[in-house]
Amino acid sequence: MTAQTVAEIVRLGPVIPVLAFESVEQGENVSRALHAGGVKVLEITLRTEAGLKAIERASQLAEDIVVGVGTITKPEQCALAKKAGARFGVSPGLTKDMHQAAQDAGLPLLPGVMTPTDIIVALELGYEIVKFFPAQPAGGVPMLQAFHGPFPTLKFCPTGGITAESAPTFLALPNVVCVGGSWLTPKSALAAQNWDEVTRLARAASELAPPAR
Ligand code: 3PG
Repeated sequence: MTAQTVAEIVRLGPVIPVLAFESVEQGENVSRALHAGGVKVLEITLRTEAGLKAIERASQLAEDIVVGVGTITKPEQCALAKKAGARFGVSPGLTKDMHQAAQDAGLPLLPGVMTPTDIIVALELGYEIVKFFPAQPAGGVPMLQAFHGPFPTLKFCPTGGITAESAPTFLALPNVVCVGGSWLTPKSALAAQNWDEVTRLARAASELAPPAR
C-alpha cells in the first residue's frame, strides 16, 4: 500500500535524512546511496537552488522511495514542491497560511513546533504528529518527556542536533515516531563523493530499533 499520510510516512523508517544538495547531480547520487542503505523516506530541503529539481529526480529513482520537501518557510512553496513530486512537506514552524497552502496543494504537512503554544496551535489545526525543532538546542529528550504530560496523544519527529549516538535515546521515547537529521550525509563524504559511506550510514540508521508504535 502506498503511504499517503504523514502518519504512514513517518512509520516507514526510524530516521528521515534532512538533505541540502549543492547540485541536482549530487542529489541524485546521494538519494540513490541512501535508498541503497534501506532509507525509504527523504526530506530534501529548499535551502539550496537544487532543491526542487532534486525532489523531482529523487522521486523517480525507485517505486518505494518517498520524497518530501523540507524547510518550507513560505506558503507558496507547498504547491511548487507538490508539483515537483514531493509526497509530504516539513516546515520548521507553522502559520495558518502555511497550513491552508498545504491543504490546498494536497501536501501532507509535518509542521515544526518548539513551545507549548506552538503545540496548541498545531493541535487546533488538527495535527497529530509534529516536528520538534531544533530538538537538541530546544531541550532534547527532557523537553519531549515534559511535553508528554500536557500533550499525551501528540507524536513528535525531533530534528536538529541529533546524532547517530543520540538517536536511539530519542527513538526510545513513547511520544517519538521517528527522528530527522543530517548525520547520514556528512560534508566530508559529499565532498569526496563517497557514496558508499552514505550508504553505510543509511544502513546503520535504518537498522536502529524502531520506536514503539
Ligand atoms: C533541520 O533543519 O531539520 C535540521 O537542520 C537538521 O538538523 P541537523 O543538521 O542538526 O541534523
